[in-house]
Amino acid sequence: ITERKRLERHVLEVAADEQRRIGQELHDGTQQELTGISMIAGTILDLLNKVSQEVVADKSVWMLDHGAFYRICDMTIKLNQRLSETSRNVHQLSHGIMPVQIDPQGLRAALQELTASTNDLKGISCCLDCRIAGEVTNSSKATHLYRIAQEAVNNALRHSRADQIEISLKQQDHQLSLEVRDNGVGFDPEDLSRNGLPGEKKGMGLQIMAYRAGMIGGTLRVQRGAAGGTCVKCEIFKGVEIRGE
Ligand SMILES: Nc1ncnc2c1ncn2[C@@H]1O[C@H](COP(=O)(O)OP(=O)(O)O)[C@@H](O)[C@H]1O
Ligand SMILES: [Mg+2]
Repeated sequence: ITERKRLERHVLEVAADEQRRIGQELHDGTQQELTGISMIAGTILDLLNKVSQEVVADKSVWMLDHGAFYRICDMTIKLNQRLSETSRNVHQLSHGIMPVQIDPQGLRAALQELTASTNDLKGISCCLDCRIAGEVTNSSKATHLYRIAQEAVNNALRHSRADQIEISLKQQDHQLSLEVRDNGVGFDPEDLSRNGLPGEKKGMGLQIMAYRAGMIGGTLRVQRGAAGGTCVKCEIFKGVEIRGE
């Protein structure tokens, strides 16, 4: 009986792990991608609203500024690419394949891409300050750090009304720190836990970021920035062994 109980528990644990993995991937992957996609669509709409109608030789003609036209083309291409990527990721997720991990040499490049695509959004300026001598060679560390940055950036986009977002990755002595700062409205992380109704999943994104930080032997702090806004800081000690590897 005890053996069967042990097996049952094991099966339940595996199922719970799998459920958490899919939940996290939907939240951190798919939902983030969809946020980005809907913001691109919003930018296209804004540009299209600048169209004016004129009647030329009894015909109704839509007039659009040259620059706006090329921006719409550019944004539509991006929209198309991002939709295909998301669709591919959902396909992989539904087939039980873990979406591609950020490759070890690629954290810097992945952060650069995140910065560029955020900076492309209308009314948002995003910059990256990457000061690490080498590369984060552990793919699990790189992936968790990237996902934390992605969630923090998307929170800034969705909740903060900021127009500036700064991402930094720094190496100080034996610590590696990732920071995402915005100049938005800010919030009190304590309020979330205090006001949360029992059983209600509040702050899933913040919880997952903290969980990821823990997985790579690090800590996560969410604070009000010195000059307002929000600062999400993940600090890890280099060389810390990663659990589950
Ligand atoms: N950068 C931010 N600026 C302002 N408010 C934020 C920011 N990040 C998080 N929040 C607040 O914390 C809440 C919880 O964030 P999160 O756990 O990521 O959940 P979600 O993004 O799904 O709402 C958000 O709903 C928002 O109210
Ligand atoms: Mg969130």
